[in-house]
Amino acid sequence: MHAVVTGASRGIGRELVKQLTEAGHEVTGTSRDHSSGVRLDVCDSGQQARFAAHLGDKPVDLLVCNAGVYIDKGMALEDYTTEVWSKSLAVNVTGVFLTVQALLPNLRLSDNPKIAIISSQMASHARAPGGSYAYRASKAAALNIGRNLATDLKPEGISVGIYHPGWVRTDMGGSEGDISVQEAAAGLMHEFDVLTLQTTGCFHTWDGRIHAF
Ligand SMILES: NC(=O)c1ccc[n+]([C@@H]2O[C@H](COP(=O)([O-])OP(=O)(O)OC[C@H]3O[C@@H](n4cnc5c(N)ncnc54)[C@H](OP(=O)(O)O)[C@@H]3O)[C@@H](O)[C@H]2O)c1
Repeated sequence: MHAVVTGASRGIGRELVKQLTEAGHEVTGTSRDHSSGVRLDVCDSGQQARFAAHLGDKPVDLLVCNAGVYIDKGMALEDYTTEVWSKSLAVNVTGVFLTVQALLPNLRLSDNPKIAIISSQMASHARAPGGSYAYRASKAAALNIGRNLATDLKPEGISVGIYHPGWVRTDMGGSEGDISVQEAAAGLMHEFDVLTLQTTGCFHTWDGRIHAF
């Protein structure tokens, strides 16, 4: 299997690359700073086009849209600016869509293509504890994109899953998180394995539970 993981410079993305590689898969990790192999700022359509050209006609069996930002963590309502909103939406929403769009031709070359969108429990409308408006809205939009891609791509045999990776101890999750990157990545990889056209459009947690929308 050839997997592509965005945002692989650190955190969950870096661990996914490690564990997928250890499992014997070919993995292309992408990062803004080139640290993981291929350079890709997911918001940059020029870099997306160059990445797709770099892959050429190589099939992509699993695309993991993992890159994300959480700019408004702990931000007071009064402190929100246009820039907070535009950056959050650019990476977490537009970036996901542009990545899928750019790699769709490569996914179509696979025998069993899958797209995994790393959203968050903060995408949920059912769970609304307040705060983090831009991050929550962006992750809800990523969930929505995943659900609609699942509908559009099902006739082509492409499965789409949307995931909450857990509250993970990373730069984003902080040191108080519930689980390690190793646990998150292992759980997510199992989820990617069991994703099928029958379960396409699912919103699952890293440990296999169905998440409330
Ligand atoms: N940690 C948690 O508890 C948690 C919970 C729910 C959901 N998530 C989601 O899980 C994913 C990974 O989170 P994490 O905890 O591993 O975060 P992290 O440690 O902060 O890492 C984020 C990754 O995304 C990359 N990134 C940010 N902006 C980018 C851009 N414009 N283009 C390409 N890459 C970009 C970062 O690259 P740089 O190194 O270049 O900045 C980094 O590799 C995110 O989508 C996050 O929202 C995390």
